[in-house]
Amino acid sequence: MGSQMVEDGKKVENRIVIIYCSKTGFTKKYAEWMKEQLSGKMSCDLIPYKERRKVRFGEYDTVLFGGGFHAGQINGLKWFKAQMQKLPARLRQNGKIAVFATGAMPAEAPDVEKSMRKNFTEQEWAQVKTFYLPSGLCYEKMGVGDKLMMSMFRAMLKEAKVDSKMQQIVAHSFDVTRKEATVPVVEWCVHAASR
Ligand SMILES: Cc1cc2nc3c(=O)[nH]c(=O)nc-3n(C[C@H](O)[C@H](O)[C@H](O)COP(=O)(O)O)c2cc1C
Repeated sequence: MGSQMVEDGKKVENRIVIIYCSKTGFTKKYAEWMKEQLSGKMSCDLIPYKERRKVRFGEYDTVLFGGGFHAGQINGLKWFKAQMQKLPARLRQNGKIAVFATGAMPAEAPDVEKSMRKNFTEQEWAQVKTFYLPSGLCYEKMGVGDKLMMSMFRAMLKEAKVDSKMQQIVAHSFDVTRKEATVPVVEWCVHAASR
């Protein structure tokens, strides 16, 4: 099961790396749950964004990147997409790359797929599997700039007087993370490793 090959003198066999970019902890929590569920199934390295430069992609069989939505953009994705173009063809061409994004939008929101797609070109979209995991908002852990952005967003919603449901959602901190939400991602990882 799984691929075995020698690259830069190292054996590649069912090894996955999860790189995550997390500002207030939601993406980190999801990444840790994924690692926990993958343990025993394959070797999994969990790398925070600040340590991203130490990742040697050639040593992995499957690559997963996670980041939180930030005004429509996925945090850290710009860097990851730049790396993607340099990844070995065996990863880019065989469905071995996935991106998960966390956000305050409910999973069933009609904008989810559109918001995900906006972060990728057609070519990139064809190379990655994507997942959206609903998370929440944590005002306590937000930086000053993000708190300001959120207060502007709340003021804009209030002014527009259209989306009262959204106004309620963003009024306070909330956490809708669930371990079960990671199941499709974990299943994808296991499947990708056996391809
Ligand atoms: C300034 C700001 C902008 C945000 N923009 C979005 C957004 O466009 N879509 C969304 O679903 N969630 C948005 N969120 C919510 C975050 O994506 C959510 O809290 C995410 O899980 C944060 O991940 P982290 O805790 O790993 O940094 C935003 C949060 C902040 C603070």
